Amino acid sequence: MKPSRVVVTQKSEWSVNSDLLVYCLEQEKNKVPVSPLFLKKPIKQAYDLGDFKAKKKDRLLLYPPVFSKKKEIKAKRILVMGMGKIDKKAGNNETGELLRLLGGEMAKACAELKVKTVTVCLPDLPSLGMDKTAQMITEGVILGDYRFLKYKKTSVKKDDYTGLGTIRLAAGKQQVSAARKGMVLGQNAARAACKARDMANEPGNGWTSIEFAAYAKQLADQYEFTYTCFEKKEMEKLGMGGILAVNQGSAIPPKMVILEYRSGKPADTLLLVGKGITFDSGGISIKPAAGMEEMKYDMCGGAAVLSAMQAVGEEKPDVNVVAIVPATDNMSGSGAVRPGDIVRHFNDVTAEIVNTDAEGRMILADALSYGIKTYSPDGVVDVATLTGAVIIGLGHHHTGLMSNNDKLSENLINAGEEAGEPVWRLPLTKDYIKQIESTVADIKNIGGRPAGSITAAAYLSKFVGKTPWVHLDIAGTAWDYTEKSYIPKGPSGICVRTFISLIRNWKTGMLK
Ligand code: BES
Ligand code: MN
Ligand code: ZN
Repeated sequence: MKPSRVVVTQKSEWSVNSDLLVYCLEQEKNKVPVSPLFLKKPIKQAYDLGDFKAKKKDRLLLYPPVFSKKKEIKAKRILVMGMGKIDKKAGNNETGELLRLLGGEMAKACAELKVKTVTVCLPDLPSLGMDKTAQMITEGVILGDYRFLKYKKTSVKKDDYTGLGTIRLAAGKQQVSAARKGMVLGQNAARAACKARDMANEPGNGWTSIEFAAYAKQLADQYEFTYTCFEKKEMEKLGMGGILAVNQGSAIPPKMVILEYRSGKPADTLLLVGKGITFDSGGISIKPAAGMEEMKYDMCGGAAVLSAMQAVGEEKPDVNVVAIVPATDNMSGSGAVRPGDIVRHFNDVTAEIVNTDAEGRMILADALSYGIKTYSPDGVVDVATLTGAVIIGLGHHHTGLMSNNDKLSENLINAGEEAGEPVWRLPLTKDYIKQIESTVADIKNIGGRPAGSITAAAYLSKFVGKTPWVHLDIAGTAWDYTEKSYIPKGPSGICVRTFISLIRNWKTGMLK
């Protein structure tokens, strides 16, 4: 799908042609909501009838000729939307999320009306500022306008709605430059998240390790990143026994995909590692058939990491960022790894594979230890659809966080809060590490039923040493995420915007 175009204009909003002109009004206590003069009459009418109070999700659709004689309004329709009561003392994150949700509602309204061009009159919210206002509305509209139509061929009709063409944001003369800055940030973040959704929506035969590598290469060419991709031969030489074992039952080669962004200044290095299992059948410890098709989403961590790099390429932040995606599917072909097999990881730690369905930790182990040894990062974040257990613990509303470092954890929790992607920390103490002790190898790849998400993190902890590290388990949030106007059914693009926030806020030395 062609991405929609977003522009900021300082022309008065009624002078521009568009299919829809949107106003956002605050709810007043027992009063008619305050609106532009020319809307006063119809709004009072609707208010008196009890049809429109400007509560959240309140909408009023109007058609210009009915009420405007003096000014010629060029838009075909006007949509007045309620924002509810805005708490002036609420933090930016809360108000920001309110606007993102509003943006999502706008996209929905546009789809219902089959609108191609929309002009949004940006509300003036001094507590938030025009930059953040534009940023959040842009994010919400683009995220809410997302759809995946690539494989819809004969089932779509010619005039079926395919999404917005142009989104115009109208701001006053004094505010255009702030609005434009915010719009660009919102656009970078939302487009990156939509890219992650695209990758995730691709089926197991449409997005393999090969597509992961090709996309990374494309980003490298576009943004001058350093691109490295280890093929099977090189993995063998390097001793990456985890990813090789997981790949054994597959007909598709494994790839370790690496992108490096250098800020060009003395700066910290952040390492991002994302699980890139392009389909998880479970291997010999095969999964039940019902719902197995969802395991095409098992690469959402890898997608998040590469998508974040897309935004890094756009914004060129003052922190070095290295992204690694170990990519393969987990299949049960004749060469497949067996339960009981023992493998040796990149850092020489040996592991007994008790369950071949606990494959994510095995590919991450090699990527983490290789990345830390090679790049000596100041901080490491891995992200993975790692355990069903995190869904039992946190449901679909929080990403699970486990870490060896309070400062990095705090930074991630704040970044998640800012992105509207909440994260919840679970304990990772040495008691859990006992659960993965093996009788025949250094560790085993499962730790029994209790605390399944934490024992998975315990496994990973063996590969990060003392480097500040955060593990994010997105099994509950990568799809079926909390219902929100800007989150479609299917993959959410979770953590892309959290990473972008983390990177934008990064201060060199902050973990010291
Ligand atoms: N990819 C799955 C985790 C998963 C499950 C993600 C459900 C999303 C929804 C992972 O590879 C897996 O199979 N984990 C096992 C681990 C177990 C064998 C210790 C699980 O969670 O059941
Ligand atoms: Mn699995
Ligand atoms: Zn998996």
